[in-house]
Amino acid sequence: MKIAPSVLTADFSNLKNELESIKTADYIHLDIMDGHFVPNLSFGPAITEQISMQTQLPLDIHLMVTNPLMWIDSFSKSNPKFITIHVESNQVSETIDRIKEKNIELGLSIKPNTSVESLLPYIDQAKLILIMTVEPGFGGQSFISEMMLKVEELVKIRKQRNLSFEIEVDGGINDQTIALCKAAGVDIAVAGSYLFNMEDRKKGIESLK
Ligand code: DX5
Ligand code: ZN
Repeated sequence: MKIAPSVLTADFSNLKNELESIKTADYIHLDIMDGHFVPNLSFGPAITEQISMQTQLPLDIHLMVTNPLMWIDSFSKSNPKFITIHVESNQVSETIDRIKEKNIELGLSIKPNTSVESLLPYIDQAKLILIMTVEPGFGGQSFISEMMLKVEELVKIRKQRNLSFEIEVDGGINDQTIALCKAAGVDIAVAGSYLFNMEDRKKGIESLK
């Protein structure tokens, strides 16, 4: 299981040390929120750029924004490995094209109330599928275990269509819920509050792996 700590819950007044504390992870997950697609506002391209200069880990950018197309160029400056957009946002096809033009690996995400079917028109182009296991907007929420049915469905679709996307989950991941994710076939787990609310993050990452 690969681990992608979400810096949403990190102490931004001490970000350099916070990033150092999670350097044994596989990716850094950046939750970008516009206060419109979700009822919260997090951070943008400038802070993302600073983060990219403070870590060796690949960036996993999660755009929880209504109009992701307008943000692709600015976030691409941080050379992320993934940019993930929600299929519930605007201009999905145009945004996918823009992400591919930038040679960034495409991630597609769905909220808890959105079906796996809504991914199907675009799924062949995705390198990452992000299943939200909480309603997006805030860290520290409880894991919605019914979402594991979507993971199992995606494992089947990946096999049937001979695709190679990785499956990521985001929200409420801890040393208990991680077992459900593993059993369902998750490849990458995002963890925010579980890791950033503990002292020994290295140990926390090991426990999740
Ligand atoms: C929700 C955010 C959170 C964050 C992780 O919009 O995407 O899920 O990444 O939050 P925790 O791990 O604290 O539930
Ligand atoms: Zn996220």
